[in-house]
Amino acid sequence: MHNFSLHAPTKVLFGQGQIARIADEIPADARVLVTYGGGSVERNGVLAAVRAALGARFAVEFGGIEPNPDHATLVQAVDLGRRERVDHVLAVGGGSVIDGSKFIAAALHYAGAPWEILTEAAAGRLALDSAVPLGVVLTLPATGSETNDGAVISRRATGDKLVFKSPHVFPRFAVLDPTVTYSLPPRQTANGVVDAFVHVVEQYLTVPVDAKVQDRLAEGILLTLVEDGPRVLVAPEDYAARANVMWAATMALNGFVGAGVPQDWATHMIGHELTAIHGLDHAQTLAVVLPAMLQLRRHHKRAKLLQYADRVWGLRDGSEDARIDGAIAATRGFFERMGVPTQVAGYGIRAPRIAEILAKLQDHGMTALGEQGGVTLDVSQAVLEAAA
Ligand code: NZQ
Ligand code: ZN
Repeated sequence: MHNFSLHAPTKVLFGQGQIARIADEIPADARVLVTYGGGSVERNGVLAAVRAALGARFAVEFGGIEPNPDHATLVQAVDLGRRERVDHVLAVGGGSVIDGSKFIAAALHYAGAPWEILTEAAAGRLALDSAVPLGVVLTLPATGSETNDGAVISRRATGDKLVFKSPHVFPRFAVLDPTVTYSLPPRQTANGVVDAFVHVVEQYLTVPVDAKVQDRLAEGILLTLVEDGPRVLVAPEDYAARANVMWAATMALNGFVGAGVPQDWATHMIGHELTAIHGLDHAQTLAVVLPAMLQLRRHHKRAKLLQYADRVWGLRDGSEDARIDGAIAATRGFFERMGVPTQVAGYGIRAPRIAEILAKLQDHGMTALGEQGGVTLDVSQAVLEAAA
């Protein structure tokens, strides 16, 4: 295991009824910007519960943050926040609302043009001094954004989708009430399970470094998703299954699985470009890229693929190659069982615009991806061709 420092400062408030506890986390004299998405939180009562918890506090609301949050929308929220002199941001939604709110919280304290936060991050130069304190009410278990320091922001005007990270945007607290996920449409439930699964895989299925706790934590999360992912699709109001899926998704990307181990993220980086160019949901891109990536990089990842085959899929018989084939097929089968197609063609796209995607990867400096930089543009091209 390599040296690591782990900064995990988000206070988690988990369980039914926890939205009311926001009252203990935000000062009575705070000026709060409440952010949300396209209206699901109005329909399912979550926003009403948030308003009740905020009570008499000064609050302004900004709705309309879209999936894959767009820079053009977010800068409007920054203007509103400046006008109203807000000193707290409360995000009520899924990964897009939370990521968008991290951007808003950072931009409110940023002197330059807000988009620079993303370009500076891409160039490895971002150093934010501060951000407005952020709290979160999570409504979609998927991204892990509720307890991490990352955000992914899109800019439709230029076809970009970029990541920034800063310790200042760690949510101060995150409410995780599994009952708020009962209203998720099946597509979003499934997306969340696939996204969390791939987060674990990108930090686990690399090369062995004898990190036993991280490996077994990863395997525990994967097994939980395989067990309860399909269950929440057929029984959306099964509290225990929803709670397990919710906690699995948070644990998948809060820093614990990836502490001191090699990390891959090639599937995610290629996936972000696929969303930017073709508009696929984030998890849909992962479902198409990951099986192709594992197949193409099976020699490099051989030892971990065998461990994954054994411990996650119970594949212990047959040749090593047959077990690896079995593990990749089982992964694909799991995504399909969740209702998420694993080829681009499954989304009605006849020919993915591979040359454009490769040009964007190059623009964004994504030319040596993977745990040891082995995913060059040629490898990305082969992955995209196999995923078509
Ligand atoms: O907008 P509303 O009306 O709220 O509807 C949303 C949206 O249409 C709906 N939804 C959310 N909670 C619901 C609900 N509908 C009914 N009941 C509920 N309880 O779900 C739709 C999708 O929401 P979105 O937030 O876009 O989904 P997700 O959580 O999957 O977030 C995806 C975004 O996060 C980024 C992705 O790239 C993408 O932009 N990611 C962020 C990461 C991070 N910060 O660490 C890591 C990830 O790898 C990922 O890249
Ligand atoms: Zn993801």
